Amino acid sequence: MEMVMDAFVNTKSLKILKDPRQGDHVVAGDDAKNEREPLKPSTATVGDIHVADPRMTCRHVNVFYGEKRAIRDVSIDIGRNEVLAMIGPSGCGKSTFLRCLNRMNDTIDGCRVTGTITLDGQDIYDPALDVVLLRAQVGMVFQKPNPFPKSIYDNVAYGPKIHGLAQSREELDEIVETSLRKAGLWEEVKDRLHQSGTSLSGGQQQRLCIARAIAVNPEVILMDEPCSALDPIATGRIEDLMHELRAQYSIVIVTHSMQQAARVSQRTAFFHMGDLIEVGPTDRIFTRPRHKLTEDYITGRFG
Ligand SMILES: Nc1ncnc2c1ncn2[C@@H]1O[C@H](COP(=O)(O)OP(=O)(O)OP(=O)(O)O)[C@@H](O)[C@H]1O
Ligand SMILES: [Mg+2]
Repeated sequence: MEMVMDAFVNTKSLKILKDPRQGDHVVAGDDAKNEREPLKPSTATVGDIHVADPRMTCRHVNVFYGEKRAIRDVSIDIGRNEVLAMIGPSGCGKSTFLRCLNRMNDTIDGCRVTGTITLDGQDIYDPALDVVLLRAQVGMVFQKPNPFPKSIYDNVAYGPKIHGLAQSREELDEIVETSLRKAGLWEEVKDRLHQSGTSLSGGQQQRLCIARAIAVNPEVILMDEPCSALDPIATGRIEDLMHELRAQYSIVIVTHSMQQAARVSQRTAFFHMGDLIEVGPTDRIFTRPRHKLTEDYITGRFG
C-alpha cells in the first residue's frame, strides 16, 4: 500500500496545490493573453520523473498550438547513457514533446512552449542560445529517412563543415568514416561514398541520417518512430545500433511498437492526451504498470 501511495506522490501531485503557473517562465513566443488564463492542473505523473545524473531536465512544460494545449505540464529528466522510450496513442503529443527538446517547435507557426528545459544545466530556451548549435547537440532522426540530395559523403560532412569541426580534408574524411562506422554503415558504403544518399535502401538511408546526426558530436539523439518505414531486418539493425550508441549518447525514441520500447529502452514514458501519465523503468512499466491508463494501453485495450 505504501508503495502505491508513494507512486502517486511526486513533485507534480504536490505542485498542483499551488498556482500551476508558479515557477513557469514563458520561454518561447510569449503571449500575454494566454499567460493570464488559469491553466487547469494536469494529471499527476505516476512514477519517478527524476534520474540521478540528468543530461536534460524538463519542468512544467506546456505546448500550445494557438489556443489548444497539446502538452500539459510535463516534467521529466533524461539520463545519460539511457534510451528513454516515449509511448502512447496517436495524437497524445509524443512528437510535440520530442520537438521541444531541440526547439524544433520554434519552426511551427502558432506553436508556443512554456516551462523550463535544460541541457547540462543550461536553459535551452535562453534567447541568447545558438539554436543551430543546440540542434547539433540534440540531433534528430525522423520517421521517414530524409538524406540531403547530396552524396553519402556530403550528407555526413555537411554538419562538421558548417560547425567548423574539421581543420583539413583529412580530418573531415576521418569524421565521415568514424560517423559511418558508428552508424553501422561504413562497410556497406565505403566504396560508393560519392553516390547519392538517396540511392541507398530505406534502412541504409536511416543509418545515414543517424551518421549525419552523430557527425556533429551530439549529446542527445531524438528519434521519432525511426523504424516505422523499415522492414524487420533493417529495424533490428537500428535497434542493435541504439544499444551501442547508448554508451556515448542519450537517446529518446518515440515508438508505436511496445516490443520495440521493451527491447531498446531502459526507461519508458507513457503519454495520454497531452499528459505524462506514467514513467519508470521499462521492465516495470510493461510488467507492473501502476496507472490504469498505462495498463489499458500496454494490454492493447486502446490505442
Ligand atoms: N503543427 C500543428 N499544428 C496544430 N496542431 C498540431 C500540430 N502538430 C500536432 N498538433 C496537434 O497536437 C496534438 C499532438 O500531436 P502529435 O503529433 O504530437 O502526437 P503524436 O503522439 O506524435 O501522434 P502520432 O503517434 O500519430 O505521431 C494532436 O492533437 C495534433 O493534432
Ligand atoms: Mg508523432
